[in-house]
Formats: sequence, C-alpha cells, structure tokens
Amino acid sequence: MTGSDPLRYTTFHLANGSGELPAVGFGTLIPDPLATKEATRAALETGFRHLDCAERYRNEEAVGDAMRDALKAGTLRRKELFVTTKLWNTNHRPERVRLAFDASRRRLQLDYIDCYLIHTPFAFQPGDDLDPRDGQGRVMYDSGVTLVETWQALERLVDDGHCKSIGLSDITLKKLREIVAVARIKPAVVQVESHPYLPEWDLLDFCREHGIVIQAFAALGHAMKPSVLEDPVITAIAQRVRKTPAQVALAWAVQRGTTFLTTSTKRQHIQESFDLSTLPEDAMREIRDRITTSIRFNAVVETGVPGFIPRGPVN
Ligand SMILES: NC(=O)c1ccc[n+]([C@@H]2O[C@H](COP(=O)([O-])OP(=O)(O)OC[C@H]3O[C@@H](n4cnc5c(N)ncnc54)[C@H](OP(=O)(O)O)[C@@H]3O)[C@@H](O)[C@H]2O)c1
Repeated sequence: MTGSDPLRYTTFHLANGSGELPAVGFGTLIPDPLATKEATRAALETGFRHLDCAERYRNEEAVGDAMRDALKAGTLRRKELFVTTKLWNTNHRPERVRLAFDASRRRLQLDYIDCYLIHTPFAFQPGDDLDPRDGQGRVMYDSGVTLVETWQALERLVDDGHCKSIGLSDITLKKLREIVAVARIKPAVVQVESHPYLPEWDLLDFCREHGIVIQAFAALGHAMKPSVLEDPVITAIAQRVRKTPAQVALAWAVQRGTTFLTTSTKRQHIQESFDLSTLPEDAMREIRDRITTSIRFNAVVETGVPGFIPRGPVN
C-alpha cells in the first residue's frame, strides 16, 4: 500500500455521453455557503476532480467561487474537472428545464455542465418555492408532467451543446428501465444511495449492461447508525490493510465498478478519502459475502423529499 496507488485516479468512460467520469467524487451538500466554499477548495487542492452539486443545495455560487479561484490561479484546467448538477423537482415542466439549467450554469460560473441529472423522479408543483406544501404540510406534487417529458427536455440540452451528458438520480430500477426503453439519448449516469449496507447489485448489473455509470452517494453511510464505518467486517479489513474504515468503504466502491460521492468539511477527512489504495480480492469478497446488514438511510426515493436536507422554516 503506497501513496502512488492508481485507484484514486480511476475514471469511467461515459458510453452514453462524452468524457470520462473520475471515480472519486466530492459532494457539496453542505448547508453553509462559506463552509461549502472552503470544503470545495480543500477538495480541489487535495486532488478531487469530480464535484456533485444541485440547485436544491442552494450553494452552487459558493462551489462556483471555489472552482473559479482554482481555475484563475491556474492550478486546474476546466477540462480536468467533471461537474454534475441537478434539476430540482419544481422544475420538471419542459418549459422550466432550460431556465433552471442556465441558472445553475450561471451560479456555478461555468460555460458547460458535464452532467445534468433529474434530481428525483417526483415532480413538485412548479414555482419558486422549492418545498411546496399544502395547509396540512403535505407535499404538493405536479401531475401535469411525466418523467419522460422532463427527460426529453434534458435531451434537448445535450443537443444544444452546453450539457455534455444527462442522467437520473434517486431512481428505482423499474423507472430507470422505462426511461432507457424510450430515451433518444440514454442516461450516462445514475446517482443513487449506495454503500456496503445498500450495494444495489441488481441496479449495478443493469447499468453495466446499458453502459450507465453509477454515482454512489452516502458512500460512507452519511455517518448514520448502524455505522458502516464501525462494521466488524470493514474494521477488520481496515486493520489488515492498514487503512481507515472510510478508505476501505470507498476503495470497495471504486473496485466494484461505481464512482462515489463523499462529503466532509474537515480537511483531514477530505485528504483521507482521496488517499485510497486497492483492496485485495479477498477483502472485496468478504464485504460482498459477509456483510448482512441492509439499510437505506435516505427515503428520498419514496417521496422526492430530501432525506439529508433539513426542512427550512415554512413561509
Ligand atoms: N441525489 C441525492 O438525492 C443525494 C442525496 C444525498 C447526497 N447526495 C450527494 O452525495 C454527497 C455525499 O453524500 P453524504 O454526505 O451522505 O456522504 P458520506 O460521505 O457518506 O457522509 C458524509 C459524512 O461522513 C463523514 N466523513 C466524511 N469523510 C470521512 C472520513 N474520511 N472518515 C470518517 N468520516 C467521514 C462526514 O463528516 P465530517 O464532515 O465530520 O468529515 C459526514 O458526516 C452529497 O454531498 C451530495 O452531493 C445526493
């Protein structure tokens, strides 16, 4: 295990888009904009070249500022970066898609976006309120648009050239099949929760078959209990290979053929999550065969309501 292990530089070719997606990804779901800018800066300095953003995180400008500083300083070239951002649920209607996309591009201060995802397959009532609720606090869904119509609007963004690839997030295998069956431009990327407690093998098999790359979010289990990082199989492997449990979980994600997204506001954790080493085959097998805990930490797939974003005050 040396510092020169090439695992951290793994990239996946986008069969249904253009470019290469770095396996090691940094997520920007960080509530405070100043902390977002600092963390993004630390991630870029450490070597992360794949950033995950979203309109819904309300901090694209802070991520954009950190990228702009690095690009200006010449420590980074735009073509080395892979930036994903996402269309929020309130913008599913085709006539809103381009406006939302251009607004994200403006906030991120980028001419083009490497990958644009439909954040969740649930359409919410269109408007400026990102969390539209009725008088009883129930989410107001929008039955006036289908996922296929929204997908077709994303396809048109690719045609126009400022969007290099498109994909879906928080999607089930069933809904993904439906989109793949009718898509003119197939999804390049699918972003879902995935970690040793939620390996999503069936989805991974389907994606491989169709040239789709998975972005695994909550790759460390979002620091929730039961803790992936305290799992006895993971901690025993970590001791054996002299890495941390986080490094074991992240190396496993790459070696089984997914990219991952992890987030931290601590420079030490950011560096640790980049400093990956290849796991031996027996460790890969142990994680697959000996971990029996099965848990989904984020219920966003069921409702479209973000599981990890605290609800702000109701206006
Ligand atoms: N599509 C979606 O709906 C969706 C949903 C959720 C997330 N995402 C994306 O996925 C990204 C990652 O998700 P996530 O935040 O759940 O990822 P995660 O990496 O599983 O969880 C982050 C937590 O792990 C801790 N951590 C980070 N690095 C660590 C390390 N090396 N050792 C020990 N603990 C460590 C962090 O704490 P410290 O800050 O203390 O280090 C933080 O509490 C998000 O930022 C977002 O971009 C997408």
